[in-house]
Amino acid sequence: MAHIIIPPGWKIPEQQATPEDIYLDRRRFIRQLGYSGLGLWGLLSGLSGRGLSAASGPQTSGIYPAPRNAKFTLDRPLTAEQVAATYNNFYEFTLDKDRVHELAKNFKTSPWRIEVRGEVEKPFTIDVDDLLRKLPVEERLYRFRCVEAWSMAVPWTGIPMKKFIDLARPTSQAKYMRFVTFLDPKQAPGQRTQSWYPWPYFEGLRMDEAMNELTMLVTGIYGHPLPNQHGAPIRLIVPWKYGFKSIKSIVSIEFTREQPRTFWNQLVPDEYDFWANVDPRVPHPRWSQATERIIPSGKRVPTLPYNGYGDYVAGLY
Ligand code: MTE
Repeated sequence: MAHIIIPPGWKIPEQQATPEDIYLDRRRFIRQLGYSGLGLWGLLSGLSGRGLSAASGPQTSGIYPAPRNAKFTLDRPLTAEQVAATYNNFYEFTLDKDRVHELAKNFKTSPWRIEVRGEVEKPFTIDVDDLLRKLPVEERLYRFRCVEAWSMAVPWTGIPMKKFIDLARPTSQAKYMRFVTFLDPKQAPGQRTQSWYPWPYFEGLRMDEAMNELTMLVTGIYGHPLPNQHGAPIRLIVPWKYGFKSIKSIVSIEFTREQPRTFWNQLVPDEYDFWANVDPRVPHPRWSQATERIIPSGKRVPTLPYNGYGDYVAGLY
């Protein structure tokens, strides 16, 4: 990305990835205890190695860990939670991947309302807690591929976007969805100091992309609510596209007739297009996309078209 700094080597210490069976055992254990919000939070943090995950709010009770949708499994080990939680892109806070979790720690994410507007039968605002009461959540294991040519494998918990769209009732004129992140320079230092960015961050999808079964509105990760550095309390996940499409901390969802502008495309149109589908054959102007480095080992593997999700989405294009 224009101002994304790619460090020469991985700054995070070498750590083991989490094999899927160990992660799932941990989930079972937590469920048996009966996850009830903050009481168990300390225990969860302990299990994940450090108290890195700042997340709170009533939406947690009874929801996590959510039932796992076994259809979405992985061909590689899950990234260790602590690794994913300390290697983040969230420019509203800092460009330093390993400092986002510190700088976002006190960001206030509850209460949190989302405005639903544009081409809908009736515009409305809804609190994330109410959304979670209305719509079912599930857990899925997805690969995650950043445009910077690194990748992870992550268990997300969220609402299939199609279910949200049914709730929002778009009109027949709705052809795209536009998503916007919060604007709060007091809480987000990057929005104060990096004035060259067109804050707030904004993204978009075509309706058929949004309705694809892979697309999720995500509220949790590793069996608990999203910590702030991952985009609490609610973000997008579109696993066949480069990670920058997966906008964090969403405050507005608009259904539009025209294709919306997107943050990175507006900034550097020659480098980032609206679609941003993972494609190993098309190099970024400044680096190859043919392979990716798995975080944290740095092991290089071939990148797959659509990040390996071609069976689900190739027909869209
Ligand atoms: N959303 C917002 N609002 N701001 C950002 O800087 N970075 C994007 C995406 N969503 C970003 C964002 C990029 S470049 C990536 S790779 C992913 O978030 C990183 O998600 P993660 O930190 O949860 O791994």
